[in-house]
Amino acid sequence: LPTVMPAAWLTGHDRITLPLRATAAHASHKGSFGDVAVLGGESTPASHMAGAALLAARAALHAGAGRVYVALLGKPGANNSLTVDPTQPELMFRSPEALDLKSQVVVCGCGGGEAVKTVLAKVLSVAPRLVLDADALNAIAIDTQLQTLLKARHARGDATVLTPHPLEAARLAGLGAAEVQANRLKAAEALAAQYQAVVILKGSGTVIAAPGETSYINASGNALLATAGTGDVLAGMVGASLASGMGAFEAACSAVFAHGRLADDWLAKRPGQALVASDLARGAIGRP
Ligand code: APR
Ligand code: MG
Repeated sequence: LPTVMPAAWLTGHDRITLPLRATAAHASHKGSFGDVAVLGGESTPASHMAGAALLAARAALHAGAGRVYVALLGKPGANNSLTVDPTQPELMFRSPEALDLKSQVVVCGCGGGEAVKTVLAKVLSVAPRLVLDADALNAIAIDTQLQTLLKARHARGDATVLTPHPLEAARLAGLGAAEVQANRLKAAEALAAQYQAVVILKGSGTVIAAPGETSYINASGNALLATAGTGDVLAGMVGASLASGMGAFEAACSAVFAHGRLADDWLAKRPGQALVASDLARGAIGRP
């Protein structure tokens, strides 16, 4: 990997705070671990993406967030009326308007479709701690007004983590996906500088870059992660790390490493068995 010399390998010895709950004070309460709100999961007559938001929300819960809220997006009248996740009843469903974007860590975009555009300007302007994934990134890539709102966050001291896969990164950078992949480190660092945000460029050898930080290339994880929904799980895990009080770069590094390590644990304990995103969201391999 000759192009990655300026970066360090993320091996679990640096910038990692794991697990979130192991070192918590005995007198802590659920407020101590922070709140996460997931906005996504667009529902239209033709397409229903609630699963992406649910995966992110479940992952945030299992990664240690104190309370996790879900706001599903969609046009009025669309079938976005899920009020409970029967297999994860801890999740609390709210309308987007009912969220407290200032006090909750906001994870926005997972399965958000076009409907994410109805909330993005407000989220970018109001939420002090924000993770942007998937359709939130795609919407920003084609809207200069949203780009301006994103760039303004850093000067206010707001924390922003972008979690693009290579195609999403290419759209944000105005490049082709092949150009991003040809120099992943350079692409991640350029995006971090362009948007003044922490960037997690996903894929084999995930890169974590941020203005003023030495970039990391994640050493954990494997091809079992190449399955739908694992990106949503990562977004939720970054949200939980932010909610625990970590800085944005540490939160990004910790979540990326933990996400990959879960897949490594799975490979070691269940060789030959496919991993699905719901398994990963449960957080502890072997949990019933
Ligand atoms: N090795 C290590 N990690 C990997 C590998 C690999 N070979 N392949 C994938 N991953 C990891 C990535 O680093 C990332 O954390 O799995 C996760 C995949 O995230 P996404 O690419 O965001 O995929 P996801 O959103 O879960 O599902 C795919 O994305 O572009 C959309 O429409 C597309 O529905 C599809 C969805
Ligand atoms: Mg994704």
